[in-house]
Formats: sequence, C-alpha cells, structure tokens
Amino acid sequence: MTSETDPLIVQIQPDHDQSSPTESKSKWKPSKSIILLTFVSVAITLALFFAFRPRESSFERYSVVIDAGSSGTRAHVFRYWLESGKPVFDFGKDNYAKESENPGLSSYADNPKGANVSVAELVKFAKGRVPEGMWEKSDIRLMATAGLRLLNETVMEQILEVTREVLRSSGFNFRDDWAWVITGSDEGKYSWVVANYALGSLGGEPLQTTGIVELGGASAQVTFVSSQPMPEDLSQTITYGNVAYSLYSHSFLHLGQNAAHDKLWEALHNSAAHSTEDEIVTDPCTPEGYIFVSKRQNSTEESRLTASLQAAGNFTECRTATLAMLHEGKENCASEHCSIGSTFTPDLQGRFLATASFYYTSKFFELHEKDWLSEMIPAGKRFCGENWSELKVQYPTEQDKHLLNYCFSSAYIISMLHDSLGFALDDGRIEFASKAGAKDIPLDWALGAFILETSIATLDYSGKSRKMLG
Ligand SMILES: *[C@@H]1O[C@H](CO)[C@@H](O)[C@H](O)[C@H]1NC(C)=O
Ligand SMILES: *[C@@H]1O[C@H](CO)[C@@H](O)[C@H](O)[C@H]1NC(C)=O
Ligand SMILES: *[C@@H]1O[C@H](CO)[C@@H](O)[C@H](O)[C@H]1NC(C)=O
Ligand SMILES: *[C@@H]1O[C@H](CO)[C@@H](O)[C@H](O)[C@H]1NC(C)=O
Ligand SMILES: *[C@@H]1O[C@H](CO)[C@@H](O)[C@H](O)[C@H]1NC(C)=O
Repeated sequence: MTSETDPLIVQIQPDHDQSSPTESKSKWKPSKSIILLTFVSVAITLALFFAFRPRESSFERYSVVIDAGSSGTRAHVFRYWLESGKPVFDFGKDNYAKESENPGLSSYADNPKGANVSVAELVKFAKGRVPEGMWEKSDIRLMATAGLRLLNETVMEQILEVTREVLRSSGFNFRDDWAWVITGSDEGKYSWVVANYALGSLGGEPLQTTGIVELGGASAQVTFVSSQPMPEDLSQTITYGNVAYSLYSHSFLHLGQNAAHDKLWEALHNSAAHSTEDEIVTDPCTPEGYIFVSKRQNSTEESRLTASLQAAGNFTECRTATLAMLHEGKENCASEHCSIGSTFTPDLQGRFLATASFYYTSKFFELHEKDWLSEMIPAGKRFCGENWSELKVQYPTEQDKHLLNYCFSSAYIISMLHDSLGFALDDGRIEFASKAGAKDIPLDWALGAFILETSIATLDYSGKSRKMLG
C-alpha cells in the first residue's frame, strides 16, 4: 500500500521538482490540448486521491520498541504518518499500545536460553497490532536498561543474542545492532525528549525546556539543559528540528529506589549478623511492628535476625540514613560541586518533572501537585511512625512488599531532591508527573527513543534521496 504512495511524496516535494522541467521541455513539443488534457487528468486524479484517501493508510508507518527493564520487559507498538517526509506522531489509544511481560530479562541470568519466551510473546503482541503487509517495513528495536547493565558482560551478551534470534525471525525489520543495552544517560535523554515533545517545547528555545528527574527501580536519572560547562561524560547534545540542546544527563546506578532500599537492608542485616548478643540494630525506614524474615531460609539466622534487628520507623532518622547513602564517595568529588556521591551536577535550570517512583509515592500519599515536596515530610513522618499492623488495616488492598516501601521512599525523595539536589521545599518549578501535555502523553523513555530514532531515520532518508535526485 505504501509503496504506491511513496513516489507521491517525492513528487510533491518542491525540492525534487526543480531540476526536471527545463530538461524535458526541449525534447518534444506536444500540442497545447495534450498538455491541457494531461494537466486536467492529473489534477483530477490528485484531487480524488486527496479527497478519498483514508487518512490512516496514506503514509502510515509502524515501529516497535521493546524496553527490557529490570522489573519487566515492555513492548511499545507505534503507528505514525509521514507527511512531506516528516514523521507525525500521535500517542492516542488507536496509535499506541503497550504490553508487559514479567519478570525482566535479567532474571534469566542463570538460564539465558529461557529469555526467548517473553520476547516471543511480545513479538506476538506486536504482530497483532501491525497489519501483516507492514511487518517487513516496520522497525523493531530492543533496548535494555539497568537490569542487564548490572549483569556480568558475558551473560548479558548471551541474553541479548537470544533476543536477537527471536527478533531476526520475527518478520519485522531488524538489524543485530538494534538489540543493545542503552546507557543510563541515554535513558535520561529519551525521557527528556518525550517530556518536551509532550509539552510542545521540543524544537523550541533550549532554556524554555523542562528537565527530568526520574526515580527508577535500579537507577535514578537527572537530565536538563544547562548552559554551564560540563565534563564530556555527563553531557549529551541532541538536535531536533534545527535546534541543538546541550543536556546534562546522568544516571545514578544503584541509587534507584529498590536498589537503594536493598542496600540499606543489607547493611542493617550485616550489622545485625555481627552484633553481640544483647545489641539491637534498628531500621528507621521500616514501621514499628514489622517482623523481619531472612531471605536465606536458615532458622539459626532467622531467630538471630528477629532478636537483633528491629523495625523502628522514624522519618527523621531514615532521612539521615538515606542521605548518608547519597553522599557516599563525596570526598572523591573532582569538580567544584557534587550533589550526589562524587558526580558533578550543574546548577538547576528551568522547570522540572519528577517521574516514576517520585510520582508513585506522591500519589500514594495523595499529595497536591503544588507543595508536594513540603507535604511529603509530614506525610512521611506520619507513615514511618505508624504501627505496621495499623498500616495493614488502613491500606487493606496494598501488598506488603509495596507498603513496606513508602516510609523509605518518602525519606529518600526528600534527601535526594531537597537535601542533595537542592530543590527548595516550596519550589514551584518541580512537579511530580507520569504524563504530560494536553494529550496526556506517558512519560516513558521508550516513547522518547521512538520519537528521536524515527526523526533521525526520516532525516537520513530525505537527506539521501535529495542527494540522489538533485
Ligand atoms: C526458546 O528456545 C528454546 C531453545 O533454547 C526452544 O526450544 C524454544 O522453542 C524457544 N521458544 C520460543 C517461544 O521461541
Ligand atoms: C562472567 O561469567 C562467566 C561464566 O559464569 C565467567 O566465566 C566470567 O569470568 C565472568 N566474567 C566477569 C567479567 O565476571
Ligand atoms: C505495634 O504492633 C505490634 C505487633 O504488630 C504490637 O505488639 C505492638 O503493641 C504495637 N505497638 C503499638 C504502639 O501499637
Ligand atoms: C545459618 O546462618 C548462620 C548465621 O549466618 C550460619 O552461621 C550457619 O552456618 C547457617 N547454617 C546453614 C545450615 O546454612
Ligand atoms: C525520631 O528520631 C529523632 C532523632 O533521633 C528524635 O529526635 C525523635 O524524637 C524521633 N521521633 C520519634 C517519634 O520517636
């Protein structure tokens, strides 16, 4: 269907028309009536075509992005259009669909061969959304994030190769280098792209763009336009339209919410395991009354843990404990200013959206979009100080493993955004969000990856064809 319409794009682009008329005129001189007749019939054909073409099918394209994350693998299927060679996006229900498979690919570290099943399921889903005739023309990419990034490199490559086998035989357009592990700062960059696309600021003035702070499970990303000089490894330049954006982008590995919480627990378990008989280790980030169980099913260890590690929720102490984690390594800061660990962060510039777990925790506490940071403190204090059995009664539908997170996350959010990055508690420039813009576009990096890769690919295409024809 599209192969018929492609030449039309070329014909109506003014660039491509310019060279031909003068050449063709000299060859033969048709009578005026033939010219007129030809002109009229072409005009009628074109008019009919534009009047009756169904909008959906004319320059329709599809693309699939598989996001292999630490907790799950997600397929995103996009339908878009080419108008005058430029991609036009729409993330409404009819043009965008998403499907997830849990657990993530990194859980196949002990059995890489088994990773094909979930990818195959997602390919099946994508095939159901893309008309069969379009499969061959539709790109499929698999981009993996922190979960795979943390694996042993040999194992990581084995898992990727297993997914490539599935994608090669999927029927979609695939190249081996389209299944890869993206860097944390790419992840931040893509989130920044989708946010600014949604807000209408992508393609506009760099200092009018919105930055992103994202609290994921394994890592946390900070990405925004900065006019300060930056070390090369922390800066990314992206070009969209005719505008170049100089971004600060960094992913703080192991400082995602789950990774940081696990790290704290591990430290507490270790000190409990090494404590003397009558010494008690307290966990300030777990509400009182919660009984710890050991991950290793060992009754000696179990009873010791129960006796010496005690949940003693206290927001203020939890905030201090999480701040210590965020400041770890600060003595190695090589620049004039490090907000988190030994990593340079420029001065905050412009507006920000706080996404992923920043959003989930704020929603859980029912905070207001304005003043959410200052409201987080009393909400966290109340929650951390509550008895576990009381909390279970108050939140009957919440799973234990989720409920167990909120004391920690309320304190972690304050120590990260306020105590470390330096957002004022009443700073109106930062809001929590999971979607943005008038169309409520999800702030998911996979959408940003699709937007950026598609824009680059279509730019390449028109660049090449212009050269060939001109
Ligand atoms: C996954 O790979 C195994 C071999 O390692 C194969 O037997 C199985 O059929 C594959 N499953 C799918 C869904 O591709
Ligand atoms: C990764 O794991 C493989 C197999 O388990 C092992 O042989 C190799 O030494 C490991 N590589 C690294 C860099 O740890
Ligand atoms: C908290 O809960 C535990 C058990 O769930 C109970 O033994 C304890 O008395 C409670 N403490 C308060 C202050 O309610
Ligand atoms: C159980 O845990 C204790 C304390 O960590 C350890 O000394 C002991 O060897 C473990 N026993 C078994 C059977 O693993
Ligand atoms: C929490 O800890 C702080 C600092 O140690 C202490 O001042 C405060 O009284 C504690 N709060 C409660 C409710 O125990």
